[in-house]
Amino acid sequence: MKARVSMLLVDDDSAFRHVMAGELQRLGFEVTTAASGEEALTRLGEVDPDVVLLDMQLPGISGLDVLKAARESHPSAEVIMLTGHGSIDTAIESIRIGAFDYVVKPCPLDELQVRIQRAIERQALRRRTHLLERGLTPPDLGSSFVGDSPEFTRLLQLIGKVAASDSTVLIAGETGSGKEMVAKLVHARSLRRAKPFIVVEAATLQESLLQSELFGHERGAFTGADRAKPGLFEVAHGGTIFLDEIGEVSQTTQVKLLRVLDTSTFRRVGGTAEIRVDVRVLAATNRDLPTMVRQGLFREDLYYRLSTFAIDVPPLRSRSGDVALIAEHFVGLLNDRYGVRRRLDPSTVVRLQQHGWPGNVRELLHVVEAAMVVADGPVILPEHLPASLQPPAAPVTPPYAAAARAGMGGPLGTLDALERAHIEAVLAATGGHRGQAAKTLGISERNLYRKLRDYGLAH
Ligand SMILES: Nc1ncnc2c1ncn2[C@@H]1O[C@H](COP(=O)(O)OP(=O)(O)OP(=O)(O)O)[C@@H](O)[C@H]1O
Ligand SMILES: [Mg+2]
Repeated sequence: MKARVSMLLVDDDSAFRHVMAGELQRLGFEVTTAASGEEALTRLGEVDPDVVLLDMQLPGISGLDVLKAARESHPSAEVIMLTGHGSIDTAIESIRIGAFDYVVKPCPLDELQVRIQRAIERQALRRRTHLLERGLTPPDLGSSFVGDSPEFTRLLQLIGKVAASDSTVLIAGETGSGKEMVAKLVHARSLRRAKPFIVVEAATLQESLLQSELFGHERGAFTGADRAKPGLFEVAHGGTIFLDEIGEVSQTTQVKLLRVLDTSTFRRVGGTAEIRVDVRVLAATNRDLPTMVRQGLFREDLYYRLSTFAIDVPPLRSRSGDVALIAEHFVGLLNDRYGVRRRLDPSTVVRLQQHGWPGNVRELLHVVEAAMVVADGPVILPEHLPASLQPPAAPVTPPYAAAARAGMGGPLGTLDALERAHIEAVLAATGGHRGQAAKTLGISERNLYRKLRDYGLAH
């Protein structure tokens, strides 16, 4: 979780930059500075700021051009333009392009602070709208969660059981493995299905914002809070709240969460009234929470409270049986979306099954999407797959020839020795998976077993 609101201050006047950065830091912001448009573009990529204070008149790339670039690459950052008296027209133009606001220099600090707070509020609001859209669960959700491996079948059974129970669920799994889909399914198959499903992205919000997002705030709770706002726990009343990346939540927020879980009540930030809600909590993490508990980074009581039920979403590499089905499913979706008719060649499917999928199902989706674009005909071939799925570029023949020579003691070796070396290499590449190795070799599994026995490779 981001500890503080991050800010990028762009101005070529070094004295102004220095003084202003000091003041903003004193107000609790995390400040990065840039002295030119060029530097601003570099820093944008590095710090991913919440708010950009951008001088209009910069040497080289102009303030307006930096604004355009920032809207493109960092649409969630709010930009406040700093302008001189003479350039109000350009300031208005900047609002048209997408700046949140402009201030005329020199501007009193407290006025600037109010505008910054408003920018932060608007950013939170946009994020919330986005999350509410993400929470809309399509009615046919089940049919878009596919797999047929024994692990996946077990997962589906568990989801069914847990959904009916109304208890808190902790969903653990590697990035991209399908945790959010599992959470949506749990909600969609529960009695709460007609009520809201609210996603809270703990990792992307800074501490104070996360609390005001979750619990809401009263009017005047902090600078810029000119209206009271209900928290997401209130919005989710009757339904389910999904706390994504729960491992990123600070200790203070952990205490507050524990209280809602135990008593179903909470107070808005700056408020005194107890608000009672009926909300089911689902949480997800790709961190190792038990270890975090041992290291004192995550409260043990909250961990136990959250994990009444635990669902582990297995990584894709440990259920390679699902790869073909999910890949076909994605091809179908993308065919519909682009109005084309592409299909996977069987050799492409084999290549997909051999990959380790560190980014899990999301990586598979991206790979299929990229291959669909690269393939120019109806059939997606292995060579259309991205570089990460291509066999290593090193020439294959020399090590084989060496192995064959070593096996036979002769200068070149026999075909049998070469075959044996090749089978060993393929087995190594598939992690000893004989079914996959047979597919890659283009022979039946029985045939492979026979050869393994003949070469003394069967164990
Ligand atoms: N079994 C599946 N069948 C079809 N699509 C899936 C399946 N599992 C995941 N997906 C898709 O893969 C993508 C990643 O899934 P999801 O967002 O649920 O993962 P996650 O574990 O929450 O990832 P992260 O840790 O990055 O937040 C989504 O587009 C999702 O729709
Ligand atoms: Mg997720």
